Amino acid sequence: MGRIAFDHVTKKYGDVVAVKDVSLEAADGEFLVLVGPSGCGKTTALRCLAGLEEVTDGTLYISDRDVTSLPPKDRDIAMVFQNYALYPHMDVYGNLAFALRLRKHEMAAAAANAPTDGEQSNGAAAFLGRLFTKNAPLRGADAEIDRRVRRAAEVLDLTDLLKRRPRQLSGGQRQRVALGRAIVREPQAFLMDEPLSNLDTQLRMQTRAEILKLHQRLKVTTIYVTHDQQEAMTMGDRLAVMKAGEIQQLDTPQRIYDHPASLFVAGFIGSPAMNMLPVIVQRSGDQIMLANGDFALPAPGRVKMRLTEAVGKEMTLGIRPEHVLPLPMNSNGADTQDRMAVNVDIVEPLGAEILMYMSGTGGRQVVGRFDPSQRARTGDRLYVGFKPEHLHLFDPETGNALI
Ligand SMILES: Nc1ncnc2c1ncn2[C@@H]1O[C@H](COP(=O)(O)OP(=O)(O)O)[C@@H](O)[C@H]1O
Ligand SMILES: [Mg+2]
Repeated sequence: MGRIAFDHVTKKYGDVVAVKDVSLEAADGEFLVLVGPSGCGKTTALRCLAGLEEVTDGTLYISDRDVTSLPPKDRDIAMVFQNYALYPHMDVYGNLAFALRLRKHEMAAAAANAPTDGEQSNGAAAFLGRLFTKNAPLRGADAEIDRRVRRAAEVLDLTDLLKRRPRQLSGGQRQRVALGRAIVREPQAFLMDEPLSNLDTQLRMQTRAEILKLHQRLKVTTIYVTHDQQEAMTMGDRLAVMKAGEIQQLDTPQRIYDHPASLFVAGFIGSPAMNMLPVIVQRSGDQIMLANGDFALPAPGRVKMRLTEAVGKEMTLGIRPEHVLPLPMNSNGADTQDRMAVNVDIVEPLGAEILMYMSGTGGRQVVGRFDPSQRARTGDRLYVGFKPEHLHLFDPETGNALI
């Protein structure tokens, strides 16, 4: 039920490879987010799944059915787009019922197969029901449509608005109607392509929460596309981070945040972005050091062995802003190599925290996320340290993470 899989799916438009050998699986009831910068192939991947684009290569499964060559209407999914044009001349009820009315035969069959009050559906009844439906044209379909519309309206808190036209609705209400049109289909899966990007910030937050609540209630497998890493982090059970048509990493938001697999993912997920500092791998006695003009840190034990083969090579050290520590200027530690002397360029107080943009003597930039009690001001000089257990290290040639 509801499981979705891409199996080595590629989609080319002429020479452009929009989706490149993508394999991923969403479990039944999972909320999986495809996230990546504009043009990385998110929409194309979704459109392939919906059947709106033909794949160049690979196989697509919905509920364990190979749907690769099925037309969209037979894939049993509902899509919500960024531009959700509602029919202006129809009221909310009409907008919700519209697609179902085009499928009256299906609705009649669904009505005939649905168990009625106090009566169990069984093979014979279902068979008779189908016979009945075939002969008595579509009785039951209207009742089924009505049931679905009212259920969707209730779930989305639209019951009092069923008689309104779209122009009599707020932006958020319109967006809910657009979601409702997907819900009434009672599909195996929802596909959502940046459904919130037309809303202002406050409404976006609100609707984000509503979509999650809806997901909690309906538990329908959802593939959700966004370019917004924060939206992805807060919404997804798991994220697939995409770049140039390929999946770079697929995991829970926390694991991706804590252990980004590549420079790209490390830089894309998290705001302000992870600090990236070029270092050279050096040997000092039996120590392996990561050094540049600003500091020399002992390499964390978990990566030391591998770095012995990389002495002399350049690496990229990554450290998230919250793992940068302000140290007092006059700390007379014997070894000050493990810290970086910086000049404070910009201070951004955010209430609960302070962002401090700093630069080292060699011009290397570092952002710190500090407690508001940190009193440094623009132009001040201070030392910052890096929490060793939170250091990341990347090979700049391949972009891959070593730790
Ligand atoms: N119909 C099309 N014809 C040619 N190229 C396309 C078409 N649709 C998308 N592309 C290209 O495929 C790539 C992925 O696009 P898209 O899936 O829309 O990215 P995203 O949704 O992540 O912004 C882009 O380079 C885009 O220009
Ligand atoms: Mg898109």
